[in-house]
Amino acid sequence: MSAILRTENLTKKFGGLIAVDNFTLSLESGRLHAIIGPNGAGKTTFFNLVSGILPLTSGKVFFGGREITGLKPHEISRLGIKRTLQIKSVFPQMTVAENLWVTRQASQGFLHPFRAATRDTQTRERVDQTLEQIGMTALADRTAGTLSYGDVALLEIGMALISEPKLLLLDEPTCGMSPAETERAVAKIKELARSIDIIIIEHDMEVVFGIASDIIVMTQGAILARGTPQEISNDERVREAYLGRPEDEDYVEEAAHA
Ligand SMILES: Nc1ncnc2c1ncn2[C@@H]1O[C@H](COP(=O)(O)OP(=O)(O)OP(=O)(O)O)[C@@H](O)[C@H]1O
Ligand SMILES: [Mg+2]
Repeated sequence: MSAILRTENLTKKFGGLIAVDNFTLSLESGRLHAIIGPNGAGKTTFFNLVSGILPLTSGKVFFGGREITGLKPHEISRLGIKRTLQIKSVFPQMTVAENLWVTRQASQGFLHPFRAATRDTQTRERVDQTLEQIGMTALADRTAGTLSYGDVALLEIGMALISEPKLLLLDEPTCGMSPAETERAVAKIKELARSIDIIIIEHDMEVVFGIASDIIVMTQGAILARGTPQEISNDERVREAYLGRPEDEDYVEEAAHA
């Protein structure tokens, strides 16, 4: 099976703190991968290293077989890795469609004015496709600042999708959402995962067990366990280290079988 993303001994130190510790991982294409783990486990830092936002201390990163260690964020982004941030960031004064439009234009850089008209047509088509993908066609002309929290999160996913990435990194996409918004976002993410590789960092165990076929449990910068939802929910070490609060056990069982 081909790996969409692979790391070898990936390590990130912040002074004396080892946030990502000798992380060796191979994520195959075609499955929805989830990274879970307690606060401060190093999950976001892992995304920051993969996307080149933070320089790594040591180790290697490969994307689709190609080494991307040390490349700049825009180079990695151009190769096809896009991410959303833990903190939402859209342009609140612009409409939904305009947010997508400027993101697409920015991702393509400057262009000779002669070709600008052709690109405008192509951009418009791509904006429409993306609106469809995230299910926000009816909201195209709404000012982003007036959207519900769940719609802002979907718009952010759209902004990551508009440049047709191969791999999408989602950092806690349902954080702060109502149960109804979460349900809708989960359905969308599942649908997207059919055509694009996705790695999701997620705290909500119900979401994780409902969405991912491969779960990586991270603690203190390292992999504690990895497996299917079934395997993870039955893993003693995971239960102890992370899920192990007795009052949560029934809940975890339930979520795993949902
Ligand atoms: N830029 C930074 N400078 C210094 N320390 C950092 C930096 N970024 C993260 N850390 C530290 O690295 C560790 C891992 O942080 P990280 O944000 O990756 O955790 P996380 O698993 O995403 O946690 P959460 O679930 O709370 O989002 C933490 O101890 C954090 O304080
Ligand atoms: Mg984080």
